[in-house]
Amino acid sequence: MSLIHEIDYGTPRSKAETMVTLTIDGETMTVPEGTSIMRAAKEMGTAIPKLCATDMVEAFGSCRLCLVEIEGRAGTPASCTTPVLPGMVVKTQTDRLKRLRKGVMELYISDHPLDCLTCAANGDCELQDMAGAVGLRDVRYGHEGHNHPNPGLDESNPYFTYDPSKCIVCSRCVRACEEVQGTFALTIAGRGFDSVVSPGMEESFLGSECVSCGACVQACPTATLTEKSVIEIGQPEHSVITTCAYCGVGCTFKAEMRGNEVVRMVPWKDGKANRGHSCVKGRFAWGYASHKERILNPMIRESITDPWREVSWEEAIAHTASEFKRIQAKYGRLSIGGITSSRCTNEETFLVQKLIRGGFGNNNVDTCARVCHSPTGYGLSQTYGTSAGTQDFDSVEQSDVILLIGANPTDAHPVFGSRMKKRLREGAKLIVLDPRRIDLVRMPHVEASHHLPLRPGTNVAVLTALAHVVVTEGLADEHFVRERCDWDEFQDWAAFVADPRHSPEAISELCGVPAEDIRAAARLYAGGENGAIYYGLGVTEHSQGSTTVMAIANLAMATGNIGRPGVGVNPLRGQNNVQGACDMGSFPHEFSGYRHVSGDETRQLFESLWGVPLDSEPGLRIPNMLDAAVDGVFKGLYVQGEDILQSDPDTRHVAAGLAAMECVVVQDLFLNETANYAHVFLPGSTFLEKDGTFTNAERRIQRVRKVMPSKSGKADWEITLDLAHAMGFDMNYAHPSEIMDEIARLTPSFAGVSYAKLEAEGSVQWPCNEKAPLGTPVMHIDGFVRGRGRFMVTEYVATDERTGPRFPLLLTTGRILSQYNVGAQTRRTENVVWHGEDRLEIHPHDAEQRGVHDGQWVKLASRSGETSLRALITERVAPGVVYTTFHHPGTQANVVTTDFSDWATNCPEYKVTAVQVMPSNGPTAWQEGYDEQSRNSRRIAPLVEAAE
Ligand code: SF4
Ligand code: SF4
Ligand code: SF4
Ligand code: FES
Repeated sequence: MSLIHEIDYGTPRSKAETMVTLTIDGETMTVPEGTSIMRAAKEMGTAIPKLCATDMVEAFGSCRLCLVEIEGRAGTPASCTTPVLPGMVVKTQTDRLKRLRKGVMELYISDHPLDCLTCAANGDCELQDMAGAVGLRDVRYGHEGHNHPNPGLDESNPYFTYDPSKCIVCSRCVRACEEVQGTFALTIAGRGFDSVVSPGMEESFLGSECVSCGACVQACPTATLTEKSVIEIGQPEHSVITTCAYCGVGCTFKAEMRGNEVVRMVPWKDGKANRGHSCVKGRFAWGYASHKERILNPMIRESITDPWREVSWEEAIAHTASEFKRIQAKYGRLSIGGITSSRCTNEETFLVQKLIRGGFGNNNVDTCARVCHSPTGYGLSQTYGTSAGTQDFDSVEQSDVILLIGANPTDAHPVFGSRMKKRLREGAKLIVLDPRRIDLVRMPHVEASHHLPLRPGTNVAVLTALAHVVVTEGLADEHFVRERCDWDEFQDWAAFVADPRHSPEAISELCGVPAEDIRAAARLYAGGENGAIYYGLGVTEHSQGSTTVMAIANLAMATGNIGRPGVGVNPLRGQNNVQGACDMGSFPHEFSGYRHVSGDETRQLFESLWGVPLDSEPGLRIPNMLDAAVDGVFKGLYVQGEDILQSDPDTRHVAAGLAAMECVVVQDLFLNETANYAHVFLPGSTFLEKDGTFTNAERRIQRVRKVMPSKSGKADWEITLDLAHAMGFDMNYAHPSEIMDEIARLTPSFAGVSYAKLEAEGSVQWPCNEKAPLGTPVMHIDGFVRGRGRFMVTEYVATDERTGPRFPLLLTTGRILSQYNVGAQTRRTENVVWHGEDRLEIHPHDAEQRGVHDGQWVKLASRSGETSLRALITERVAPGVVYTTFHHPGTQANVVTTDFSDWATNCPEYKVTAVQVMPSNGPTAWQEGYDEQSRNSRRIAPLVEAAE
């Protein structure tokens, strides 16, 4: 293995269709119109020296190193800023050019410290490279002259340093921050020789607007901006391409290594989801993989109040299998089940559901998508016939109007958020439907045309009102609907939405949004050339989550915004492989590829390959498993890579269910909250330690590659395999690629997927089969998967969770950029500097009424329970609404959420909880003394007590 060097073409690729032919150094070259001379030369293999140009950002033309001669043109123009023209004749190497370039380099080097041998970038410095490329042998001006200002080393960011003494003021960092990330945190302060990069006025990087995405570090050609890990470890010596294990964007990275140690993660320019960009989590927050709290040996205990006992893998697996067999013998076949992980690979998830269906002999399998996007699966399959988003991420580049509903991409899907911001800066319009004023409502160079700050729980009413405007104002695309959808169902639906009770005026008071704003938003969305809908958990995690997804699908069909680039219905999926976990058959009623277990033909296909009879009855969902446990009939659970105690609603009920079981097996990296109730702990492996695939939010299947040996000795798929053998269920695979081959044999939408194809193509989007051998970037182009698009009537039904005198405020929850989900990984990285605790956002008006001050401890109480956290007074939330994150187990925000859930899928209603907030003196009783290091059993008593 060697270090992979990506080619830097100097300027971005032109997307023009017209081609231009020119001559460079005597060779003829044809490139798209708008290509720079620098890029055209590089594409034919000639590297023109450069410093201020890099292909991730537009050319700037400041360093004057890339000069060329053009026949018939005076002077020596910069090749990075000069576009090719037909018939142009360019010379890149003449004596004059060599002399000029040497002179430029002399000036740079005379102002640069001469500590190359001890510099962290030694061997990876473009300034060094260019000195070599132009043949610089001496510097006529010496090195003792006046150097540009050096405000001093800034080490405030936990992941990278800023050493201005090495800065050549090429402004690549400033442009990367603006163009790639869209944060505008950097500027060049001062003029001429005194200019210097600055993260805002008199601020450090940490104190500035910087979101630590690292784009500037990647763009910097010198050691001015350098990863601390490179300074500590040294330059990497080999690299492996793999996929981020945090969110559903699915960024591809080069893991750059020294031996088995990660030196840095560099976003891969060929990654089709991220196009060379990343966020703070993927680029920097991988330290948890070697965190001292990782459990590396299997452990068992008789009772959850006993201390853990380390055992061999053999003993742990044999004990688990014998416990599961004992329970089934005593309580019946249906008394055990399992939960697959949306963080594990497709192959691992497939094996867990196979073990449960084939080895346990029942369908008691579920996944965390139950608590996030299960309504997406249901709603989109009802209307369009498939359970996934319709577009690829590139599609946003062609959107004219973006309707963003219940999603906060700049925090939760940051790299896609940056791509969306770029499109908005180019002129696309934005409508935000969200109770909270998310950053995209107004931020540098981005401003939403409309923000509809609806009351939590009223999504369906507002979406139906938008549809009302579309239908009653003649904005529907009748041609599209007649051609592609069921016309009779459309007419029924149109009559329903046109009813005056669904007009913006009729629902304005209910949802808290002025009627004229709803009308204007509907006109904008329906009137745009390409209208795209993006949505998140603010849509799904409601008692009407599935209805809301169907309302979104209706709106897109009615306006003809389906089946081409730039439009579509796009769920922004949370976890890295939540799409894959659903695709792989993690739900109790479906085999892989969303086929119902009662379908004889499908079931027989699986039975014949697996060699066992399979149950035709759907199994239990997570909440039903917990209910059954409390009722004493469900006794054993295998949980791979999920922390249901922290992530699922109504913590007390979850605790009571787990405490009632006789064998809970947790397979994870750390002793998580659920492990408090476990009898067996099987140490899991990180994404760095195994092979497999993840499927991101755009249905893109991407390789995860092992970059280091497993610290615990086994990848997660190997653990499941051992457990299956011990249970007497025959599964044999030598490598995850063989599991994928089986998935392809059994799943029509994956029929064309293989590791060989993924090696060749980089990634593919399902469906990938005979009809679409290279995958399907945009779905429903020639027709809906189900045939004709189906309009569904979406009657608004208010949630049973109501505010009242005792609980007058509505709590909604969400994520923050630096933390991820329950925080098991990110809390064990330096990311805690940005978010060391969950805070309760409360509007100044509500805070004043309650005598709450900023930063003060407050009690947050609901009908389910109470917790305490500190207040953050902000106008980001509307009066009557409070908001918090759920990243810290010391807060346990889900102690207060209810067990109300989506009518179709049981997805919990996290986004609407009636609460009261009042000042408090500090943490509540159960939070007292909470200590993550030694949490074992400490919190069991209060939670179970509360549940009883
Ligand atoms: S890390 Fe990202 S946000 Fe921060 S200054 Fe660099 S490019 Fe801008
Ligand atoms: S910090 Fe790096 S990228 Fe930014 S201006 Fe200085 S040398 Fe260029
Ligand atoms: S956007 Fe998501 S996938 Fe990409 S680096 Fe960040 S966390 Fe990883
Ligand atoms: S690379 Fe062209 S002017 Fe700097």
